[in-house]
Amino acid sequence: MSDPAQPASPDPPVDWAQHYADGDTPWDHGAEHPELAVRLGAGELAVPTPGARALVPGCGRGHDALALARIGWVVTALDQVPALEGLVNSGLQPLGGEYLLGDALGWAPASGEPDVDLVFDHTFLCAIDLAQRPQFVDLVLRALRPGGQFVCLLFPVGKPREAGGPPHSLDVTQVEALFGDSLKLLEHAPVAHSIEKREHGEHWSRFVRR
Ligand SMILES: C[S@@+](CC[C@H](N)C(=O)[O-])C[C@H]1O[C@@H](n2cnc3c(N)ncnc32)[C@H](O)[C@@H]1O
Repeated sequence: MSDPAQPASPDPPVDWAQHYADGDTPWDHGAEHPELAVRLGAGELAVPTPGARALVPGCGRGHDALALARIGWVVTALDQVPALEGLVNSGLQPLGGEYLLGDALGWAPASGEPDVDLVFDHTFLCAIDLAQRPQFVDLVLRALRPGGQFVCLLFPVGKPREAGGPPHSLDVTQVEALFGDSLKLLEHAPVAHSIEKREHGEHWSRFVRR
C-alpha cells in the first residue's frame, strides 16, 4: 500500500495565471464556500480577540478570505497570480487585510513568531504538487500560534490517488499523516452544504495547533 504522506511523481506545471486570464476557473463558484458561509452565519470561527489574524493561502479571487474579513478577521490572503492582486485587495484592504503576491509556501510571519490564529485552506493543498505538501505543513506550523486553528475544506475526498491531479486526492487521514502530533483533530465531517457539480466528496476538518 502506498504511504499517503509520501509524494508520487511530480505534476506537469500548472499555469494558474493563464487559467484566470482565460476565465477557466472551475474551482471558483463566485462566492465563499457555502459550508463556510453557513458556519460563519451560525457564529463558528468567531474572531477570538480583536485584531486576530487569519491566513488564506492560494486564495484565488479571495471569496473565502473576504468572508472571514467581513466577520472581523485580519486576513492575509496569498496567491501568486498578479492579476488577482487588485481584485482581492479592493475587498480586503478596507477591512484591514491584504493580498500578498508570491509563493504562498514561502510566507512567514513578519514578527518571526507564529502569530496567526486561523489558517483556512480550500483547494490549495489539493492543488499543489504532492511533493510540495511538506512545505505546506511548514507554512502552517510557521504561521499558527499554539491554540490556533487549521480549517481544511478537504476536496476531492474519495478521488483515487492514481487519478493524479490537480486536484489531488485529499482526505483527513492524509492531513493527519502530514502533520503528525503538531495538530490535534477537533472536528471532521462531510460538508452539509457542498458546491454543486463537484465530482468528489468535500469534508470539513478543523484542527488545533498543539
Ligand atoms: C484551485 S485554485 C483555488 C483558489 C481558491 N482557494 C478558491 O477556492 O477559489 C488554487 C490556487 O492556488 C494558487 N497557487 C498555486 N500554487 C501556489 C503557490 N505556490 N503560491 C501561491 N499561490 C499558489 C493558484 O494561483 C490558485 O489561485
